[in-house]
Amino acid sequence: MKKTILSLLFVAGVAATTAKAQTKIPPDIEKLLQKNTCLACHKADTKLVGPAYKEVMQKKKYKAEQIVELIYKPKPSNWPGYPAMAALPQVPKDEAKKIADWIVTLK
Ligand code: HEC
Repeated sequence: MKKTILSLLFVAGVAATTAKAQTKIPPDIEKLLQKNTCLACHKADTKLVGPAYKEVMQKKKYKAEQIVELIYKPKPSNWPGYPAMAALPQVPKDEAKKIADWIVTLK
């Protein structure tokens, strides 16, 4: 019973999030963001622990190479008011590149 209620809440939550979300993350990218824990702290449109990827692009207008660099070597001074993002050296280079190529498409 408890499980049913929980899963109903979950479905409702997902539906609400989907209805509000403006940015559709392509499934292959979402998989990479999930696997590399980015989603724990970032969403495409809204601020979570870190800034929304859209906001990152609006404020900084990075090139994909710069984003790859920042995944391995974050610069917390770029985002006053946020906690520091830990460097993620374990992210495979090709995956970091794919994620970065998607982030730069956000406006
Ligand atoms: C534990 C939380 C956390 C995780 C996990 C995390 N981030 Fe962040 N990220 C942050 C925070 C907080 C900031 C803002 C402060 C900073 O840059 O240190 C940030 C900043 C950024 C920025 C902007 C950098 C800049 O200097 O302008 C990018 C791009 C980014 N993250 C991408 C990613 C990607 C891609 C992943 C997964 C590979 C990821 N983050 C994982 C918390 C996180």
